[in-house]
Amino acid sequence: MPTPLSAHKSAALEGRERVPGDKSISHRALILGALAVGQTRITGLLEGEDVLNTAKAMQALGAQVERTGEFAWTVRGVGVGGFKAPQQPLDFGNSGTGCRLVMGAVAGCPIEATFDGDASLRSRPMRRIVDPLELMGARVTASQDGGRLPLTLQGARDPLPIVYRTPVASAQIKSAVLLAGLSAPGTTTVIEAEASRDHTELMLKHFGAQIVSEKEGVHGRKITLTGQPELRGADVVVPADPSSAAFPIVAALIVPGSDIVLTDVMTNPLRTGLFTTLREMGASIEESDIRGDAGEPMAAFRIRASKLVGVEVPPERAPSMIDEYLVLAVAASFAQGTTIMRGLQELRVKESDRLEATAAMLRVNGVNVEITGDDLIVHGTGSVSGGGLVATHMDHRIAMSALVMGLASEQPVTIDDTTFIATSFPDFIPMMQRLGAEFA
Ligand code: S3P
Repeated sequence: MPTPLSAHKSAALEGRERVPGDKSISHRALILGALAVGQTRITGLLEGEDVLNTAKAMQALGAQVERTGEFAWTVRGVGVGGFKAPQQPLDFGNSGTGCRLVMGAVAGCPIEATFDGDASLRSRPMRRIVDPLELMGARVTASQDGGRLPLTLQGARDPLPIVYRTPVASAQIKSAVLLAGLSAPGTTTVIEAEASRDHTELMLKHFGAQIVSEKEGVHGRKITLTGQPELRGADVVVPADPSSAAFPIVAALIVPGSDIVLTDVMTNPLRTGLFTTLREMGASIEESDIRGDAGEPMAAFRIRASKLVGVEVPPERAPSMIDEYLVLAVAASFAQGTTIMRGLQELRVKESDRLEATAAMLRVNGVNVEITGDDLIVHGTGSVSGGGLVATHMDHRIAMSALVMGLASEQPVTIDDTTFIATSFPDFIPMMQRLGAEFA
């Protein structure tokens, strides 16, 4: 049953919180733990539905996965190439990342597995993953057109190492090829024209693989993995997710008088495009307590309400903030002047068509917004009338962005369903309420 909720104009937000563990790193810790020999201990795991589905898949593929405390998990892996065939189809729910990364990991094992998900995931393109995995020797059969779930993947007995240029900047495509390449002899190379998040590379190194990442062209990377390593179980500390932190950050910027602190926010430069953009818009975001673990840097963020101005966001910044455009569009609505976000074609194939959904969310709340080609243009006037009902389309980030918008708009903003927030940020509503957000 859908659960609607309204966000009301709130008094200044205040307090200190830690948003949940990073979703990308949480998936990878479980998958690499399952492919390693020995024990992996994970602390700070995101216990959202997306990641829990990956944990179940690792169990179904033969790894021992155990929750040992709050956000603390251990994984005993099967070794590279050692997955066993699951008894049932693997259900990834709403999660493109879980599904696509595990497709890569399974492609390097001589087993057959069926992949499925919810209506949102069933509508998303899978050809981009299937194509390189077939080049490596996997075979895919699908009841749909092969470009959609559900599909059955027969992993390669002797996977081939390949050199693969990703057709779009996508960490999911890159990671699927690298995970399949773990079982191939020789070196597997992925070349990307624009660098996407590098958590798989950093974590593979942490688990003992030989992997080298070099610059390629102006914005790209070339990643070379030596196949058939012995991955050893490792300890992983999951920092707080910057893509989840984005919601309270924008909320604090737009609710007058706010002053909040978020601890342990991951600051990997391939994830921080939103913070760069918000600072260009005039946001007061201070970093302190800068630390790092296993190659992933983190910091505490202090955010104070700020007068924002419109800016132009270049297309090459998109991979480093691909999940943040919805909430950036909310910030842009409260800014003075026009914000132009360029090169957003990938937003059309996320949990929903986020380009259309963002424009619809703004429009229904009285904001002047246009889509031109793949660009989103928001004409901010410093205030938002609100009063709209936002359709969330099974997309957690639409739900959270719209609720953030309602905290500073004149009239409440209502969403049709809070259900999907649990995929990435189960504690979002109570955490925002602790900071002072008014929901009803
Ligand atoms: C992710 C990669 C991105 C991002 C997603 C998480 C990952 O997707 O949108 O939320 O963990 O690798 P693409 O690879 O499709 O850009």
